[in-house]
Amino acid sequence: MRRLFPVTDPTAAEDREWSLDELADAYGYPDGGGPWLRANMVSSLDGAAQHEGRSQPISSDTDMRIFGTLRGLADVVLVGAETVRLEGYRPARAREVFAGRRAAAGQGPAPAIAVVSASLELDFSLPLFAAPLVPTLVLTGAAAPADRIRAAEKAGAEVIIAGDGPGVDPARAVRALAERGLVRLLTEGGPRLLGQFVAAGVLDELCLTVSPTLTAGDAQRIAGGPALAVPERFALASLLEEAGFLFTRYRRI
Ligand SMILES: NC(=O)c1ccc[n+]([C@@H]2O[C@H](COP(=O)([O-])OP(=O)(O)OC[C@H]3O[C@@H](n4cnc5c(N)ncnc54)[C@H](OP(=O)(O)O)[C@@H]3O)[C@@H](O)[C@H]2O)c1
Repeated sequence: MRRLFPVTDPTAAEDREWSLDELADAYGYPDGGGPWLRANMVSSLDGAAQHEGRSQPISSDTDMRIFGTLRGLADVVLVGAETVRLEGYRPARAREVFAGRRAAAGQGPAPAIAVVSASLELDFSLPLFAAPLVPTLVLTGAAAPADRIRAAEKAGAEVIIAGDGPGVDPARAVRALAERGLVRLLTEGGPRLLGQFVAAGVLDELCLTVSPTLTAGDAQRIAGGPALAVPERFALASLLEEAGFLFTRYRRI
């Protein structure tokens, strides 16, 4: 057992705001070439993934800096349709601080957002679909409503079929994105989508912010859906702390 906090070495205990560059160095993707799926989620101490339908009440400024950094490193951000609807998702923006790093990695100016939906009950007039810097992707199944596919495409989104029925097969979604050269994958949930990535065994890494808050109530946990037969084990890759928030990073063993 090791004590990670409080830190006893006075040098290591230096407490200051990290620059976005330092955060980007700390959160780099592995150089494997193949797809790497990372999730970024925040949870209260009692396991809530949201409060009154949003994650913002359990987040913090530093959590949002890491959120932005992880976006700055990603090729594509996968998100469930309900999170898009409830959180009012907007397109990812190009940020000067990540521009050199992205160019050197052969990435465009900002990650594409990939919305996962079976119903395609999405407002395609929103800036996320109609005015992104890089075209928004919509991942759906072959049996998705044809008129909604047309509406998505008319708005400028690229529709990717990644399932034989109405829904998306998580492993096929990862493959379909990798075939397009999108290998640094980031999912921002929500819990129903993340649970499927976990169940399909395709989640490589979890960046979990443990928020020093208690909410009680019946909020979702960070991953939902049917339980795995055997819990999947992850190893701690890094742990940062600021104002009582723990920024953990776990990798699949
Ligand atoms: N704590 C955090 O870090 C965090 C992160 C994200 C979100 N949240 C919170 O989580 C809540 C929303 O999460 P949620 O779990 O209810 O929903 P979600 O996972 O964001 O979205 C669920 C929706 O995604 C689509 N979907 C999921 N799996 C699919 C599949 N295999 N194929 C096709 N479509 C699929 C479906 O959309 P259609 O209905 O369109 O078919 C489904 O209704 C919000 O309150 C949000 O604030 C918290």
